[in-house]
Amino acid sequence: MEFRLNEASALNIKCSVLVVGKFEDQDFNGELAQVDKKLGGELSKICSEGDFKGEVGTSLLVSTLSKIKAERVLVAGLGKRKKLTADVLRKTGISVSKKVKPFSKKLVYALGIPLKKDNFSALIEGTLLGTYEFTKYKSDNKKANGIESVDIVCEVADSNRFDKELGYAELISDATNFTRDLVNEPPVYLNPTRLATIAEEIAGENNLKLTILDKEDMLKRRMGGLLAVNKGSTEPPKFIHFTYEPKRKSGKSIAIVGKGITFDSGGLSLKPPDSMRTMKMDMAGAGVVMGVMKAISKINPPYRVHGLIPSTENMTGGGAYKVDDVIRAMNGKTIEVVNTDAEGRIVLADALSYAVELGVGEIVDLATLTGACIVGLGAHTAGIMGNNENLLNKIKKAAALAGEKVWELPLDEDLRKDIDSNIADIKNAGSRWGGAITAAMFLENFVSGKPWAHIDIAGPAFNDKGGRYSPKGGTGFGVRMIIRYLLLS
Ligand code: BES
Ligand code: MN
Ligand code: ZN
Repeated sequence: MEFRLNEASALNIKCSVLVVGKFEDQDFNGELAQVDKKLGGELSKICSEGDFKGEVGTSLLVSTLSKIKAERVLVAGLGKRKKLTADVLRKTGISVSKKVKPFSKKLVYALGIPLKKDNFSALIEGTLLGTYEFTKYKSDNKKANGIESVDIVCEVADSNRFDKELGYAELISDATNFTRDLVNEPPVYLNPTRLATIAEEIAGENNLKLTILDKEDMLKRRMGGLLAVNKGSTEPPKFIHFTYEPKRKSGKSIAIVGKGITFDSGGLSLKPPDSMRTMKMDMAGAGVVMGVMKAISKINPPYRVHGLIPSTENMTGGGAYKVDDVIRAMNGKTIEVVNTDAEGRIVLADALSYAVELGVGEIVDLATLTGACIVGLGAHTAGIMGNNENLLNKIKKAAALAGEKVWELPLDEDLRKDIDSNIADIKNAGSRWGGAITAAMFLENFVSGKPWAHIDIAGPAFNDKGGRYSPKGGTGFGVRMIIRYLLLS
């Protein structure tokens, strides 16, 4: 998709779809008024009858019957004038491109608003995100004639600024769409070995150091958690470790850790059929790490960044780890297994211990960790928890800039006894109540007091039916927030 600035009058541009903007609380003016006049007042008539108000994410599509050079006009709702933010423009971009994708080769935006600060990039980012579809396994996967070019009509446009914002938007949306692909891949294709192969490709393209630990390396390093969860699977486990080195040496370093369960059957504590569906997405945290690593040399942070992925399936084979087992994680702590379906925290125990051994100053993990988090916050918001207020504030800020929703849940001393074990240092699940919190408190045992934030993306990582602003399936949730976080750090 090619993006250009265009200073011509919107009425004189030949295109498939001309997009004009309408605020809920503002009458027709600017481009909207001009177009309406040429169309004989058709648009204002529809609006005055109350059929279209201009709420964010809504739009009105009409044919121009060749009265202007555009074939069609799409009036995009921009919400309330005073509430116009970059996020509104991102949502506008998403809903516009979703809607016009099948018939719009040449798209023109003439929203009639000054495009300043992050607005350009948000609009472009939305447009690129909205066209996403996963068609790899459709036999007739001839891509619908997608959008080829997008012109943005803007009076006084600063083209340097535009190029910069364009580059940023392309980076973010490429990384997000890449992560969506990984999450959407079926587990027969995307197993731990394949994930490692794709990691090699990413590292090669971006000059990153990559270490892939196989089973023997894990035994040497006493990664008892990842090894235990892997026991019921015929697919070998992989521990993926990317290292990005800044051009100028720096003392600072951080680790981004992603849960990489390529399929979660629940293990012997088997999931019922309906809950097992979509469990290919249990590697969405790993997907975020992969997407971010793909973009990182362009983000170019001035400190070292480690990307860590503990990856295995959680299966029921004859060798499967059992309820009542006691296993020892890499940091030496023992875990009583009370439910094999609480496997994510067990593999993360090793990955967090590994991050601590690397000596990083800050750890952020992303994991589709608990159904309880979805019960608490709904499917569109991630839960965040951690031991360091500064770091959590940074994540909140990054999420707000990225247009991704997070909400902090408390670590609660009164819940700690829920994961006390009679025979080991800790057990891997508490009661139903506060399940997202006890999962985080379990993880806390493996970060040795380092600044750490845990992002439970069980809800927002995957959207089976698709939503107004998200595609069907993997959403890539977290990629944008983590890229923002890297830029803030
Ligand atoms: N991968 C699941 C969590 C999950 C559930 C993600 C639904 C996305 C949608 C995780 O491994 C899991 O099974 N968690 C259990 C923990 C319980 C056994 C303590 C859960 O949430 O039920
Ligand atoms: Mn599970
Ligand atoms: Zn899981």
